[in-house]
Amino acid sequence: MDTTIDDRKRMESNQEGWNRRALAHVDSSYYDLDSFRAGKSSLRSLELAALGDVSGKDFLHLQCHIGLNAISWARKGANVTAVDFAGQALEIGRDLAKGLNVDIRFVEANIYDLPEVLKGSFDIVYTDYGVLNLLPDLPGWAKVIAHFLKPGGVFHIVEIHSILGAFQEVGGELRLRSELFTNGPHENEVGITYGDEYEGAREIDPYKQYSWPWTVSDVITALIQAGLRIETFTEVPVDCRQRLSSMVRDEQDPGFWRLPGDPIPLSWTCSARKPE
Ligand SMILES: C[S@@+](CC[C@H](N)C(=O)[O-])C[C@H]1O[C@@H](n2cnc3c(N)ncnc32)[C@H](O)[C@@H]1O
Repeated sequence: MDTTIDDRKRMESNQEGWNRRALAHVDSSYYDLDSFRAGKSSLRSLELAALGDVSGKDFLHLQCHIGLNAISWARKGANVTAVDFAGQALEIGRDLAKGLNVDIRFVEANIYDLPEVLKGSFDIVYTDYGVLNLLPDLPGWAKVIAHFLKPGGVFHIVEIHSILGAFQEVGGELRLRSELFTNGPHENEVGITYGDEYEGAREIDPYKQYSWPWTVSDVITALIQAGLRIETFTEVPVDCRQRLSSMVRDEQDPGFWRLPGDPIPLSWTCSARKPE
């Protein structure tokens, strides 16, 4: 690990990588833009049940990537502002929204700079699936959320469970590899991006990705210390993609995958409210 570069430089490397990934995601099996354009929602049962009726709500979506979920919330009547630092991802989102005649504001910014870039406050701040391990400062992230919530407003997150990082799959079986409590940043050369299915990864020009393997207790502590009141926290045995070859599609919600027998939680959700 090169300790001479700081977290800003690490995030710039991630930003370049996520621009490359966004371009590869235009024809990705995970995002399935043809079905989305034809009217299919990209939202899954977990977030739909947690947020309920969002119509008329001022809604801030952090790390929205190419914007499918942000557009889906807007299609359900929310007034959505969607933020990401990958400009290429937002271009794809803007084109999609325009083609679908959905009104949505995309803001290109590093979320740590957002309080200087974006004015206003929101009823709902939302983020989902694969966001936290790209962030070097979790207390700083939680402060940004608290900053943008109206008094009485709610933050909701659905995230991949970090416990999966403690395992590797060998011959279809899970084996402990024990990386859960190591501090970031981790540096990895990344030359592929995800598809829906295990075999569906696509090649991209390699970049250095920096990641920080936060535990769920890190997240809960950061939210509490930012002044938010945690209302719900759930762990669920479903994953948003087939991350391991032994995962099978969920019969109840085909947007999810599970491990046979549901041996460990694969995702978690949390709602936290800013006091009035
Ligand atoms: C795994 S993707 C999120 C995928 C999204 N949940 C979805 O379902 O499409 C992570 C996103 O976080 C963005 N990101 C990472 N670090 C960021 C930062 N510091 N500020 C803003 N966006 C960031 C990346 O550009 C990328 O689009």
